[in-house]
Amino acid sequence: MTHSINFWAVVPAAGVGKRMNADRPKQYLELAGKTVIEHTLLRLLSAGVFAAVAVAISNEDPYWPGLEVSAHERIITAAGGKERADSVLSALKSIRALASDDDWVLVHDAARPCVTASDIRHLIDSLQKDEVGGILALSSHDTLKNVQGDSIAGTLDRTHIWRALTPQMFRYGLLKSALEAAEGNPAITDEASALELQGLKPKIVEGRPDNIKITRPEDLALAQFYMEHQND
Ligand code: C5P
Repeated sequence: MTHSINFWAVVPAAGVGKRMNADRPKQYLELAGKTVIEHTLLRLLSAGVFAAVAVAISNEDPYWPGLEVSAHERIITAAGGKERADSVLSALKSIRALASDDDWVLVHDAARPCVTASDIRHLIDSLQKDEVGGILALSSHDTLKNVQGDSIAGTLDRTHIWRALTPQMFRYGLLKSALEAAEGNPAITDEASALELQGLKPKIVEGRPDNIKITRPEDLALAQFYMEHQND
């Protein structure tokens, strides 16, 4: 029997964001009249492709229940984990009864509020016939150095170096089993790396440079600038 393939969004949002030096996790800082995470979730919800959005939230998070979006009918709240990969796995388990192994999951950082519907569509259109899936990524315009201590040990060949962004898009069953196999491995800083450990070769799809991750205080002003100039 065939069934239609669903798309699910998974948002790890259980980090503390130490590099922001703020009084609260970075996803709760204000940006253009809303919190960072509200922008992110509202953009995913309005993209018109996701059956639901599973969000991983820390058990000690006092801010989440106060946001209107936390009660949205297509938002599912899951417990956060120790590392990003643990949070993603927890969110995947929260939709286990709803998702099929061959459904697509797009994992997107809570801290990337400038994601556009056009980038989401571009990723889906590029990969939905693919066996494995892949990620949005950006090539590097800067020359990249391998640094040991405070000196340069070499220059990388930047034609082969890309920066991994999100969303990262994989089949539900494959992603869940790859993350389970990699549990506790500190080298898993994104979903693609868990699939790479299985010997698979995720694709890259060139993303937009305005899909920045809020990491340092000055990123909020940059995100606001991008939002004011985006039209899709
Ligand atoms: O810290 P970093 O910017 O790499 O985090 C990327 C995303 O992973 C953020 O949205 C953060 O909230 C999330 N995260 C998580 N659980 C953790 C650590 C990070 O959901 N234990």
